[in-house]
Amino acid sequence: MHPRPPATEWLAAAVLYQIYPQSFADSDGDGIGDFAGIEARLDYLEWLGVNTVWFNPCFSSPFNDAGYDVADYLNVAPRYGTNEDLTRLTEAAGRRGIRVLLDLVAGHTSDQHPWFKASANDPSDQRFIWADSTEAPEGFVASPGSRPGFYQPNFFASQPALNFGHARMHPDEPWRVPVDADGPRTNRQALRDIMDHWLNLGLSGFRVDMAASLVKDDPGHAETAGLWRELRGWLDEKHPHAALLSEWGDPKHAVPAGFHADFFLQFGSRADGLPLRSLWNNWEGTVNEAWTPLEPYFGAKGEGTPRLFLDAWRETTEAVGDAGFISLPTANHDFSRLACGPRTAEQLPAAFVFQLTWPTLPAIYYGDEIGMRYVPGTPTREGSRLGPRYDRAGSRTPMQWDHSPNAGFSTASTDDLYLPLDPDPARPTVAAQRADEGSLLHLVRRLIALRKATRELGARSGTEVLHEGYPLVYVRGGRFLVVVNPRSGAAECTAPACAATAVEASGVEVDDGRIRASGFGFGIFTIEAT
Ligand code: NOJ
Repeated sequence: MHPRPPATEWLAAAVLYQIYPQSFADSDGDGIGDFAGIEARLDYLEWLGVNTVWFNPCFSSPFNDAGYDVADYLNVAPRYGTNEDLTRLTEAAGRRGIRVLLDLVAGHTSDQHPWFKASANDPSDQRFIWADSTEAPEGFVASPGSRPGFYQPNFFASQPALNFGHARMHPDEPWRVPVDADGPRTNRQALRDIMDHWLNLGLSGFRVDMAASLVKDDPGHAETAGLWRELRGWLDEKHPHAALLSEWGDPKHAVPAGFHADFFLQFGSRADGLPLRSLWNNWEGTVNEAWTPLEPYFGAKGEGTPRLFLDAWRETTEAVGDAGFISLPTANHDFSRLACGPRTAEQLPAAFVFQLTWPTLPAIYYGDEIGMRYVPGTPTREGSRLGPRYDRAGSRTPMQWDHSPNAGFSTASTDDLYLPLDPDPARPTVAAQRADEGSLLHLVRRLIALRKATRELGARSGTEVLHEGYPLVYVRGGRFLVVVNPRSGAAECTAPACAATAVEASGVEVDDGRIRASGFGFGIFTIEAT
């Protein structure tokens, strides 16, 4: 085998692309996406320029939570193909310079997993968290087996929490066990076995679901962090090229806990969720009533501020240092796409210019590169609904490839599609945008190419923010001036003393000591001091 660079090295140049496997491309006409469908679209991903993809869980599952309820970690769900199909896809992607990451659902299984079924019938089994009380502790669910008592779920009731122990004992909960008890030790070993299995088949790492959830009653996540650091130590020895990305939503804690990267995400405490929501979320699409309504910085009204994001960024960057990366996603399968509610197509270019010139590990959610929208009213599917105004299905609709039936996603009858397509007759497609050099897709492609070819625009290069407001202005690596104006109204500010040459610009001028940006304008310039 050829020597492969360690994860920290290749991640510095990675542009991530998230594929929701149900909805990307269906090769066998059953209405659900599959591995062969993805393989047939690798040419597209190569053309786009992304070099790392991650798939949502594609393992055997009853699909009560779209596959986040795993019934067999070592075998893929038949709806996507076979393990051999996944291996072939991974190899074909590798030949195009594209790495493939899987989703490791570490904190819970499905209630259909044999481990859980055995545990529900064996009062001595410790692999799940069982209360042998007569009344259910809060949130616990009655045993479905011969074992009396109640188990602790991790998300939905059908997702029993694997037992990684409790950090603290409690006199009222005598069933708690420490992190080094037999059950937790078996589960930690199982995580290694699962990783080993897929990494040996050529996969390049994992996005880890609910990574902070493992050890219970764990102040500051200290024991959970210890568990991941131990796994990372093993990974560095055995599979140093493999990347561990967490769904923690708090990189300043996740990276010191052993992850190579963590995402800024929509959830968590007010402080955790704000950096991302203050950029994109516009109170339409996936709305959690508990969140404080907030005007996003990327909003036509221009009533947001980049400060919440920038403050969190600075603090997080300082904590993370060179140990890892902060990933900024355009969206994901759990929250609204960029194109959502009042955010129209003309507003998307500035958002991508920002994301792809920022010192992040950028993650593009499938279809965002053509401006697919969050489709309100999409029927609930496989546990997509999380609240009265929170249905994730609108972010999971089929990829829009072309103008053929079912937008080229599938040859199934329209009624059999995993989720209905965006019914808008003007919905964007890959084919139409590939034919139009002025499209969002071409811009995203050029931005990815520029980023990959330009060290100064990458994750490891310096960033100096010159103007925090409308427009947002920053210099990357001392050589690239970036201007974005996400509001509909024009905006201007002082320019640094320099000669600026546009590399990619629309509606932005740098002249006479001023930067003038029209509504939704953006620009990337090389600069030389004057
Ligand atoms: C986070 C995943 O992203 C989400 O889709 C899932 O429902 C929960 N974790 C439970 O696994």
